[in-house]
Amino acid sequence: MMQHPVIHLQVNGEAHALRLPADTRLLYVLRNDLSLNGPKFGCGLGECGACTVLMDGVAARSCILPLGLVEGREVVTLEGLADEHGLHPVQRAFVEEQAAQCGYCLNGMIMTAVALLERNPHPTDAQIRQSLRYNLCRCGAHIEILRAVRRAAGIPEPEVQE
Ligand code: FES
Ligand code: FES
Repeated sequence: MMQHPVIHLQVNGEAHALRLPADTRLLYVLRNDLSLNGPKFGCGLGECGACTVLMDGVAARSCILPLGLVEGREVVTLEGLADEHGLHPVQRAFVEEQAAQCGYCLNGMIMTAVALLERNPHPTDAQIRQSLRYNLCRCGAHIEILRAVRRAAGIPEPEVQE
């Protein structure tokens, strides 16, 4: 039987060598081979954001990313955000704001917010909304999710217009 060439992945600071077809989608490898279940399968089409990871610090949808494009890049999943000091500030803000209902979208919301704050530590409210615009939450927890990201970014809640 023909063996696939080895693909080298760097995930959460750990190196992995896997013999898999180069067109295998990253999400399946993370969940099935590396037991990293933070990234979720939502649509499988790159449209909902549930599977988001960081690739070289940029939010990327792992359900449509073939392994061949990931080789040599630094992948970080939800599991890789916390450090010896505890949860990442964005994760902490989500806990403090209780920003979830079913929680299925949270991986994507958190990873997208982390990527935003890494490239822009002081976003405006409009920039936060724009960056989360294509992350779907079918529970309708958007208000709390926005609050959590504002909290992580240290920006005050906008005044409510009567
Ligand atoms: S599962 Fe990847 S974008 Fe929906
Ligand atoms: S909290 Fe359920 S999908 Fe967002």
